[in-house]
Amino acid sequence: MTDGRPAHGIPVAPNHKADRGTSALDLATSQPLMLGLFLPIQNGGWTPSKAPRGTDWQFDYNAALTVRAEELGFDLVFGLAQWLGAEGHGGETAYRKNSLDPMLVTAGTAALTRRIILISTVHVLYDWHPLHLAKMGATLDHMTGGRWGLNVVTGFRPHEMEMFGLESVPRDQRYIMAAEFTEMLNMLWRSEENLTYDGAH
Ligand SMILES: Cc1cc2nc3c(=O)[nH]c(=O)nc-3n(C[C@H](O)[C@H](O)[C@H](O)COP(=O)(O)O)c2cc1C
Repeated sequence: MTDGRPAHGIPVAPNHKADRGTSALDLATSQPLMLGLFLPIQNGGWTPSKAPRGTDWQFDYNAALTVRAEELGFDLVFGLAQWLGAEGHGGETAYRKNSLDPMLVTAGTAALTRRIILISTVHVLYDWHPLHLAKMGATLDHMTGGRWGLNVVTGFRPHEMEMFGLESVPRDQRYIMAAEFTEMLNMLWRSEENLTYDGAH
């Protein structure tokens, strides 16, 4: 960079961090209340109902919601993750038959926003390697100027583990495994050195 301009000379819209000199997270957490919007990236949104509804699971709708939330001063948007079979929850409504991956939605909305925090859910026990998630997360952190957040979940529905060919894991054990996973993530994100980790899982 020279004179605040990138050396390649191509104009780049600044992310919030560059804009204001404060991180989006610092700004959001300096307030008494953080206001967040759960994105309906699955059909039916939050209720398995036959009542008419105005939400849409598709990307364009959720991208527009995210941009609007930022304009209105929301601090964050949040994308959940759920793994279901071909008919979703089934029945007449086929609730959550269609859904989007929250990490990829975040990557798409990163380019459309400058300030709002973008949170994606990941089931870390469903055969993720910490290196994969660390790389993707570091990339999202870079793309958003530090506005990416991770909702780590273990997955508590036995059929989801089955979908990945995995045995169901007792609750307390899930959290021991997830703690090891997040410890590795943190090490990968913080270290400038090559790492070796001898974990139990
Ligand atoms: C705010 C919030 C968001 C959550 N998002 C998800 C999600 O996206 N996907 C998921 O599988 N579980 C999600 N959960 C479920 C929890 O991760 C947890 O597994 C669940 O509450 C069951 O508790 P247990 O794991 O202690 O048995 C969420 C819970 C909360 C409170």
